Amino acid sequence: MASHPERPLPEGFLTLEGQQRFLDVFLPVRNQVLREFYHRPRTGNRSPRTAAPAWRAAIRLLGTRTDETVPELYRLYYNRLFAAIWLALNWGPYTPAIRELPDPLQRIHLSQVNSVDTCWRPAVVSVPPGGLLVEVGTGLSDGWARLALLMPQVRILSITIERDQAEIGRRIARELGLDDRVRFRVGDIFSPGTTGDLAGEADAVTAMGVIPHFPPPRKAEGLHAMAAMLKPGSPLLIFDAYRTRPFSPFMRRALISSLSWYPSGADFRTALDEAGLRPLRFDVHPPAHCLPFADDTRATAALREEFGPLIAWLFPRIVSGFMKGLLKPQESVYLSAVRK
Ligand SMILES: C[S@@+](CC[C@H](N)C(=O)[O-])C[C@H]1O[C@@H](n2cnc3c(N)ncnc32)[C@H](O)[C@@H]1O
Repeated sequence: MASHPERPLPEGFLTLEGQQRFLDVFLPVRNQVLREFYHRPRTGNRSPRTAAPAWRAAIRLLGTRTDETVPELYRLYYNRLFAAIWLALNWGPYTPAIRELPDPLQRIHLSQVNSVDTCWRPAVVSVPPGGLLVEVGTGLSDGWARLALLMPQVRILSITIERDQAEIGRRIARELGLDDRVRFRVGDIFSPGTTGDLAGEADAVTAMGVIPHFPPPRKAEGLHAMAAMLKPGSPLLIFDAYRTRPFSPFMRRALISSLSWYPSGADFRTALDEAGLRPLRFDVHPPAHCLPFADDTRATAALREEFGPLIAWLFPRIVSGFMKGLLKPQESVYLSAVRK
């Protein structure tokens, strides 16, 4: 696949201990940055603005409203709320070792870091010192931060369509002392200006949980735009899901209102082909490996503190039901592909 020889795995990569060490460093910093970013100075009680986005997010997950854009969706609803229940915005299949851990929040967090490790593995073993990794979909910063801490000699550019995510990422990078080699860019992958200067520059490009937001007729175009950043022979790395059977009518509505469109497996492969990509790996994880994540989604002290007891009780239940409806008819896939 890559033109470079495989290098040894960094210490702590793909091990629970190493992933937990990353969380111990990353989570306090990320949570502090989020608190400072979203909380204006308090005058005493909770800001009256905090509960409103939570209600609107709950209503959206129940399947109404389709009049917003992806950046609005994240800025108003997901960044703060999901940060208070999960590490980030995607899920990771549970490994047997993760399943055995007693703490549900730790299971969720570790499965997501493990997801980042697993998805980015081909880049970790092939990117040369000084090489460039491009991440599409900054989310809540766990992806680029994990890789930047593991690989002190690579440069990372993280692209997101949502401006808060980029600003939060910048602040986390500063706090972690990584801002000399991690950069952020706000832009839509469909707009040529976002990546035009990066054509053929990247040693790997990754996207986790991003493709569902590409509208169905534009999946191949989005994949092609990501692949165009790659140096010849370098890999595009994807973690995502495709559906194995149709969603219920309720889930169809809820997904459209979340501006998400999951392709079928055949659609996914066709889109890769149309984008001029040749899959090298297509590692499928059945729903049983992913569903415990939905059961683990529960209230946290942070959620209670920020949104109050009612939202803290209700929101995880809605999300858990949504995730079960989402994951049951799906398989998750780690995918690496190169340009044909
Ligand atoms: C579900 S989140 C996943 C975030 C992160 N990769 C993770 O795994 O937690 C989807 C991400 O894709 C980004 N995104 C969605 N559509 C995009 C587009 N057209 N161009 C650039 N970024 C996009 C969003 O801003 C968000 O960061």
